[in-house]
Amino acid sequence: MSQRRGGSFYDDQSAFDAYLNHRHAAVSSPNLVMEDPAFTQAVGPLAGRRILDLGCGDGTFAAVAADAGVASYLGIDGSQRMIERARHAVSSERVRFEQADMEDYRSADESFDLVTSRLALHYLADLSPVLTNARRALVDGGQFVATVVHPVVTAAATVPDGPRQAVEVDDYFEPGPRTRSWFNSEVTWFHRTVEHYIDAVLSADFSIEAVRECAPVEALFDGDTSEFERRRRAPLFLLLAATPS
Ligand SMILES: C[S@@+](CC[C@H](N)C(=O)[O-])C[C@H]1O[C@@H](n2cnc3c(N)ncnc32)[C@H](O)[C@@H]1O
Repeated sequence: MSQRRGGSFYDDQSAFDAYLNHRHAAVSSPNLVMEDPAFTQAVGPLAGRRILDLGCGDGTFAAVAADAGVASYLGIDGSQRMIERARHAVSSERVRFEQADMEDYRSADESFDLVTSRLALHYLADLSPVLTNARRALVDGGQFVATVVHPVVTAAATVPDGPRQAVEVDDYFEPGPRTRSWFNSEVTWFHRTVEHYIDAVLSADFSIEAVRECAPVEALFDGDTSEFERRRRAPLFLLLAATPS
């Protein structure tokens, strides 16, 4: 493999630890108070579904899926550390994990009712092959639900040291890689506009069901109104839900 793909960021121990601490940090984790409620609403009931999760991370969603009674769950992630953590965290005969870059993963003859990708597609230089493969892996009537770091954030000119207040957007209409310091390391995210994401999903032969910007849910802030107000200042995540055309 000639280039460093998205999973490699998480194989740095310090970045891995810092990221996971933040990701699970109660009300100060935007994943929990913004991305997760929008995602949970978009996918609806999971029981009985066959799920493919691209960029599955540490198995957090796999555990939710197993508890919800899915028929099967297959998590793909490029990071060896993430896959090890996920395998350690979830043991269910209905749950499997595979270490692979999503660019290389092919679903062979397995079909899925739901393909998800949570906060991973902005690591890809080219969305099209992965979206086409996701479309092929789905049965008719299946569903694709993806979240990404919001284009307003991937276009941000600066990354604050402390808690983010506002976002200074720059070069919004210039798609491409943006490398920045993040969790004690350097990460490269591929910036795209909202329009670009929507076009990419439509071009992969999907119909769009929903577009969400993952507004914070006040009830999840445990009464921390100042944190809730801070999270209302800027969008952090974009969600697209789609069905095969
Ligand atoms: C921000 S984490 C999100 C993890 C998980 N989906 C969640 O929501 O907790 C992004 C994940 O995508 C994985 N990833 C990034 N680029 C990837 C690629 N090209 N192929 C497979 N996994 C990738 C990373 O290793 C990491 O686990």
